[in-house]
Amino acid sequence: MNELNLLFLGPPGAGKGTQAGRLVEQFDLPYYATGDILRAAVKEESELGQRAKEYMDRGDLVPDELIIEVIMEHVDSGEAEDGFLLDGFPRTVGQAEALDSGLDRLGRRLTAALVLEATDDEVVRRLSGRRICEENGHLFHVELDPPEKEGVCDRDGSKLTQRSDDEPDKVKHRLGEYHEKTEPLVEHYDDKGLVHRFDAERSADDVADHISKTLRTLRLEDEA
Ligand code: AP5
Repeated sequence: MNELNLLFLGPPGAGKGTQAGRLVEQFDLPYYATGDILRAAVKEESELGQRAKEYMDRGDLVPDELIIEVIMEHVDSGEAEDGFLLDGFPRTVGQAEALDSGLDRLGRRLTAALVLEATDDEVVRRLSGRRICEENGHLFHVELDPPEKEGVCDRDGSKLTQRSDDEPDKVKHRLGEYHEKTEPLVEHYDDKGLVHRFDAERSADDVADHISKTLRTLRLEDEA
C-alpha cells in the first residue's frame, strides 16, 4: 500500500487536533503537531522552548528556522516511512517550500492537504471554551463537549486546564496571523491539486466521517 502523507490546514480552533486524534487511530499514522512539540519544549525549557516561548506567549508564529528542521527530522524518521499526519505545519510559504523540497529530496510526495473551514466567530467560541487534559492532551469544551465531571478528564482522570493563548485577545491575534500568513497556503496546495475542503462547523463526528471517506477514496485511486 502506498504512503499516506497528510497535512491539516485551518484556523486555530477549527478542530485539527480533534480530527487528528481520530485519524491516527483509524489509519495508524504518526502524528506531528508543531504546537504540541513547541509547548513540550517550553515546558522542558530546552533551547528550542526558550527561543519559542516569547513568540507563543504573544500568539505570534515562531520564526521558520526554529521549526522547519524539527519537522523534517520527524518526516525523515523510520516511523514515518509509510506516512504521516502534520498538524500546524506548514504555516508560512517559507515552511511550505521547505516541506516541498524536503519531500522531493526524499523522493516522496504529499498525498493531500486537508483544509478545515470555520468562521472566525465559531473559532472564538470554540477556543474560549476549550479545556485540555494535562496528562494526555484529551480535548473537551465546556459547552460543546463537556466532561462528565467539571475540570476532570473522562478518559484518564487528570486535571483539565485552559491554554494561556486561548484568552480572547490572543485568539484574535492568532486568527490575524492565520489569515495573513497561513491561509495563502490553501492556494499553494490547490495549485498542486492537493486540497480537500471540509465544513468544520459540522459536528466532530460528521467531519471525521467526511475526512475518512475522502481518504479511503484517495487510497483506492492510488492503488488503481
Ligand atoms: P497550535 O497548537 O498549532 O494551535 P492552533 O493552530 O492555533 O490550533 P489549535 O490547537 O488552537 O486548534 P485546533 O484546530 O487543533 O482545534 P481543537 O481540535 O483543539 O499552535 C500554537 C502556537 O504554536 C502558535 O500560535 C505559534 O506560536 C506556534 N506554532 C505552532 N506551529 C507553528 C509553526 N509551524 N510555525 C510557527 N509557529 C508555530 O478544537 C478546538 C475546540 O473546539 C475544542 O474544545 C474541541 O473540543 C472543539 N471542537 C472541535 N471540533 C468541533 C466540532 N466539529 N464541533 C464542536 N466543537 C468542536
